[in-house]
Amino acid sequence: MYPSETPREQMHAAMENQQPADQLTTKVEEAHRNLKGMIRILEKMVELKDPYTAGHQQNVAAMAVAIGRKMGLTADRLESIELAGAIHDIGKIGIPTDILCKPGRLSNIEMMLVQEHAAHGFLLLQGVSFTWPLAEIVHQHHERVNGSGYPRGLAGKEMMVESKIVAVADVFDAMASHRPYRPALGEKAALEELRKNKGVLYDTQVVNALEAVLGEAQLVESKQTEKNTGLFRFCLESI
Ligand SMILES: [Fe+2]
Repeated sequence: MYPSETPREQMHAAMENQQPADQLTTKVEEAHRNLKGMIRILEKMVELKDPYTAGHQQNVAAMAVAIGRKMGLTADRLESIELAGAIHDIGKIGIPTDILCKPGRLSNIEMMLVQEHAAHGFLLLQGVSFTWPLAEIVHQHHERVNGSGYPRGLAGKEMMVESKIVAVADVFDAMASHRPYRPALGEKAALEELRKNKGVLYDTQVVNALEAVLGEAQLVESKQTEKNTGLFRFCLESI
């Protein structure tokens, strides 16, 4: 700024300087939207590969965000959880469809192949410098707090909070839903499993947050007059 500039000239100069910044913000937002669009495509690819779990990843994403919000996580971390939840099973693309959709029990070898999906997911995502730590969250979504999970047997503090949250949401939705090898076990049984193994397989704080979310959803449900409104559906709608 030159001392001879009038206030009007100064204002114009400031506006001119601001314009590129606005344009930059728009471009960043556009890139952000495009990246999210790509993640949605990845999500749909998994559903094409494994149609029995269509909607599962979205359910997990929504449930995980509700848990994370209840735990007071920042908006950035909630976004990470939402996106990682939406593609947490991306590694299933590398598993043969006849194993993924097999009705009945899997053999030990088939089970080992299916379990590879967590590591496959990490390999697929690690090369992309996403704004969010998606590769690591996906890598850890089958780890358990006592170290009995896979693929690396991480325990407690070695796990990201985001992964602990996605893990609990994943178990809840998977148990509550139908699978090729068994009928749906229901939300009650899913919650019972999580309660029973709280602090052993699943993070205590995360399970408590899920219970709080479900409790609130039940309250909302009890106030509704419409029929056929399941607990889980209300939970998803309430976030
Ligand atoms: Fe999984």
